[in-house]
Amino acid sequence: MIGQPVNRVDGPLKVSGRATYAYEYWDAGQPLYGCIVGATIGKGRITRIHTENAERAQGVRMVMTHQNVPVQGVRDESVQFEYWRAQPVLTGPDIHYHGEPVALVVAATFEQARAAADLLDVEYTVGRGRFAFAADDDEAYIPKVVNAGLPTDTAVGDFEAGFRAAAVRVDQRYTTPYEFSMPMEPHACLVEPRGEDLVVHVSSQIVDAAQTSVAATLRMAPERIHIVTPFVGGGFGSKLGVHAETILAALAARVLGQPVKVALTRQQIFQLVGMRPTSSQRVRLAAGRDGKLTAIAHDVTMHTNPDLEFAEQTAATTRSLYAAPHRLTSHRLTPLDLPRGADVRAPGEAPGLLAVESAVDELAHALGMDPIEVRIRNEPTVDPERDVPYSDRHLVDCLRDGARRFGWEHRPATPASLREGRWLVGYGMSAAIRGHFQGPTAVQVRLEADGTGVVRTDMTDIGTGTYTILTQVVADGLGLPADRVRVELGRSGLPTSWGSGGSWGAANSCAAAARACAALREKVLVAACGDADSPLHGRDPAGAHFGDGSVRIDGAEGASQALGEIVARHHPEGMEAQGEIRFMGDDPNYSDYSIHTYGAHFAEVGVDADTAEIRLRRMLGVFSVGRVLNPKTARSQLIGGMIWGAGAALEEEAVVDSRSGAFVNRDLAQYLVPVHADVPDVEAVILDGYDDKANLLGAKGVGELGICGAGAAVANAVFNATGLRVRDFPITIEKLL
Ligand code: MOS
Repeated sequence: MIGQPVNRVDGPLKVSGRATYAYEYWDAGQPLYGCIVGATIGKGRITRIHTENAERAQGVRMVMTHQNVPVQGVRDESVQFEYWRAQPVLTGPDIHYHGEPVALVVAATFEQARAAADLLDVEYTVGRGRFAFAADDDEAYIPKVVNAGLPTDTAVGDFEAGFRAAAVRVDQRYTTPYEFSMPMEPHACLVEPRGEDLVVHVSSQIVDAAQTSVAATLRMAPERIHIVTPFVGGGFGSKLGVHAETILAALAARVLGQPVKVALTRQQIFQLVGMRPTSSQRVRLAAGRDGKLTAIAHDVTMHTNPDLEFAEQTAATTRSLYAAPHRLTSHRLTPLDLPRGADVRAPGEAPGLLAVESAVDELAHALGMDPIEVRIRNEPTVDPERDVPYSDRHLVDCLRDGARRFGWEHRPATPASLREGRWLVGYGMSAAIRGHFQGPTAVQVRLEADGTGVVRTDMTDIGTGTYTILTQVVADGLGLPADRVRVELGRSGLPTSWGSGGSWGAANSCAAAARACAALREKVLVAACGDADSPLHGRDPAGAHFGDGSVRIDGAEGASQALGEIVARHHPEGMEAQGEIRFMGDDPNYSDYSIHTYGAHFAEVGVDADTAEIRLRRMLGVFSVGRVLNPKTARSQLIGGMIWGAGAALEEEAVVDSRSGAFVNRDLAQYLVPVHADVPDVEAVILDGYDDKANLLGAKGVGELGICGAGAAVANAVFNATGLRVRDFPITIEKLL
């Protein structure tokens, strides 16, 4: 089953509308509806809130502001990861960013809550906010730590000397805009009080984080918080933690003793869930005439909210990508009074590779060398900064395979030299690299007396296919047909996982499930072989084979017994085993090896010679991700990532009004993401593989790799088509005119 293109087991539920999302539970009693009121200034202080009119409005049950909000826990920075910390709201009169919640209005219907919210009258004194980003800002500072616990700066050799001495140099600055995760399902929550407990239906990527964070904020015992999130309509990082809608719904439900629903509007998603910070990235590359890099520097400045520090790891994979004796990477933060930075779709690599892989293309052009050849000449033999071997690096295989499939030999060697009618045509490519992460994850596998396998973990399926791949792994592990395996996910009380994020979910949960299956097979064999009435009695379990719902041991005469029968005889209540995967920091493979996934992106664009309209014509990605659990769901993730990459190159950009600190294009009509017409032909190919250092399945992360480098391939194709290099992303028409 592992490696088969199995259809999504949850597909029928989803297409028939029977998959229930957080806002859609109607059996929790009559809920009240909460409407979040946001600050209309970007920096300053509330001087007065007139709540009387709102409170008197029809159907209103409560107006919660900083003046009457229950006492909340504080963000505890000693908790290692942000998503597990308390997330207090309505903390006082000070306003830290435009749209920050100043009140929750709760009423009997959504319309009443919204109408009453309009009656709320908030007076402010407006402070002097800083909203405009500049890389060389005097106040730019060194973050405490870079996202994922990485060092802020690294240095190897003598960069300045190496850079000066080289024959060919590139020294350029690239900028990327504010970007939002933008899942299809808005952030939504229904909180139902049950006695002392709260049942929290929320759209969340990590159940354990949601439970811990809600409990810490409400100062409750975690076991009193019951997270329910069996289906999640996309996360892209913005649902790694919970946000104001969840905390406010929980606070209101507790005060009122009734279920309360709160959903963010699409506009509020541009204020309340965090975004990828804007970046300015200086990339310096130096090489000899032979194309061999002698020096690499990647210096990144991004914005942060001063009270909620977040440093995206934008230069981190530059540390592992190419060989060069002299190297520098750094991260700096410019404090701005904007919503906090957050993890958004391949945090780090997505903006970082946009810059670095553009710069490598510039170097190839300066050298007069094919950009694939430049990359191959700089292939390292060991991780150049950590000085440890790679676990399983197939970047060159991806580059070569992709070049062949794409027809790279047809690329015009000279920019702006290929014309088809009005269209200037160009080819571009880029390398892809992404870190692979492992987090503590437990999965329980049970065999029921009727021969059914049950998989239980608080892992989530954010649309990626978790239900399906866990079905495959356990069907394989126990020798059951897929329709005899049931997967339970997405609620607290199930064995704890690290959830879905960072593309770690599949490898973590499936490796833990495989381990649980191995332990359960042992238990079954011990029970059967030790049972005088079993046909397997006394046989050597080493020769056992699990298949078709039975266990068979070959010998002089083959013998077999149905799994259900073994369970029914020995443990009629079911037999179970738990498998666990530990934190990468405690796993020697992660210190002894450099573990990444790789890929190569290819893009062809047409640019209208008169209007500069850019049309993407085709994209190809070739990827190496270790073992593929399900090529169908993996491909869907990769092409999704590639399309996000195309969006980052050409369309996606949230624009700040530097007077007010408000994002001005706060909806999907103005914040552009690629639609079908923008993306005519995308192909993702996955090389066969197995990374024995990653885990016992040999599988690594998939989804976010698709975005890594995809945008640079498009940008490099635009250069090849036009001879114009745009370094300020996205590449919109006016920048080419
Ligand atoms: Mo992903 S941005 O780590 O959910």
